[in-house]
Amino acid sequence: MFEDRAMVDVGKSAPRIAVIGTGAIGGAVVHRLLGDGRHVTVWNRTEGRARDLVVAGALPARSVREAVSSSTLVFLTLKDYAAVEQCLGQLDMDLSGQTIVGMYTGSASEARLAAQRVAGLGAQYIDAGIQASPEVIGTDAATILYSGSPEAFEQHRATLELLSKPRFVGEAPEAAAVWDLALFGVWYDAQLGLLRALETARAAGINVLEFSRTASTQLGHVVAAVPATVSEMQQGIYPAGPADLTEHLTVVRHLIELRAGRRLSDGGLPEVAAKIEALIADGRGGEGLTATAG
Ligand SMILES: NC(=O)c1ccc[n+]([C@@H]2O[C@H](COP(=O)([O-])OP(=O)(O)OC[C@H]3O[C@@H](n4cnc5c(N)ncnc54)[C@H](OP(=O)(O)O)[C@@H]3O)[C@@H](O)[C@H]2O)c1
Repeated sequence: MFEDRAMVDVGKSAPRIAVIGTGAIGGAVVHRLLGDGRHVTVWNRTEGRARDLVVAGALPARSVREAVSSSTLVFLTLKDYAAVEQCLGQLDMDLSGQTIVGMYTGSASEARLAAQRVAGLGAQYIDAGIQASPEVIGTDAATILYSGSPEAFEQHRATLELLSKPRFVGEAPEAAAVWDLALFGVWYDAQLGLLRALETARAAGINVLEFSRTASTQLGHVVAAVPATVSEMQQGIYPAGPADLTEHLTVVRHLIELRAGRRLSDGGLPEVAAKIEALIADGRGGEGLTATAG
């Protein structure tokens, strides 16, 4: 244990870095760090997958323990929390002064568990939410959200800035995971909304290519309305806009009928209709759709 600690370069300006998991994201992280002249030790469960990175200048480690022992900053760029847990389970030494970054898509409870396990080893924990594909890591197009220890984030900001414009979203370890999943939710809801529309159109014999052009315009309206929607939510004032809740209810009911029996189902529209009905019964039929989330 003490031999391991002696190798740690705590206090030097450029941290020695370990990347555990050299898949698509891990590989991109390593390339970017090597490109900046950093010392990077790599470990991957399937050894051959790290070979190109070693050729590019990374140092290979024989175990997770060896990689972590020689580093002050450790990225766990792994598939999921189960993999994170397996890798952390291989560590039995004191990691005081080290920082571990969990860089994977996980839930809020998994982020809390990871933070607890890392704290138990004496290290600082940062959770990362990756809103980026491997190709854009290290470019302005990459967004990576971080949460957890603000001290560790500040200490390693310069390194994190190599990967993306880093965004610290809160001290709670799960904050980045919540942001990350909520942002994925925007994509899923929009994409599934588009798929439902295409499926409905196709089932009605409509040319989906022709249909998609107008569907794109509809998606554009959603994007254009983002600032107004946020402002309504923040102020708790819900102006009707192009339609009020009474008019929305009519359309939503027609849509539920049109989508009946479709494979992608109704997308929760009956619950939306019930919410609108309750608001109308409450005398709020003249308000806009944002009132449903008010
Ligand atoms: N790729 C993207 O565009 C993207 C975008 C946003 C977020 N993410 C998230 O980023 C994370 C990494 O994604 P990725 O694209 O890099 O995945 P990937 O290419 O499949 O790599 C997964 C890595 O996890 C390792 N791994 C899996 N199970 C393991 C275990 N039980 N023990 C040890 N290592 C294990 C793999 O090792 P082996 O090589 O041995 O299998 C590999 O190094 C995921 O959570 C993903 O959801 C990815």
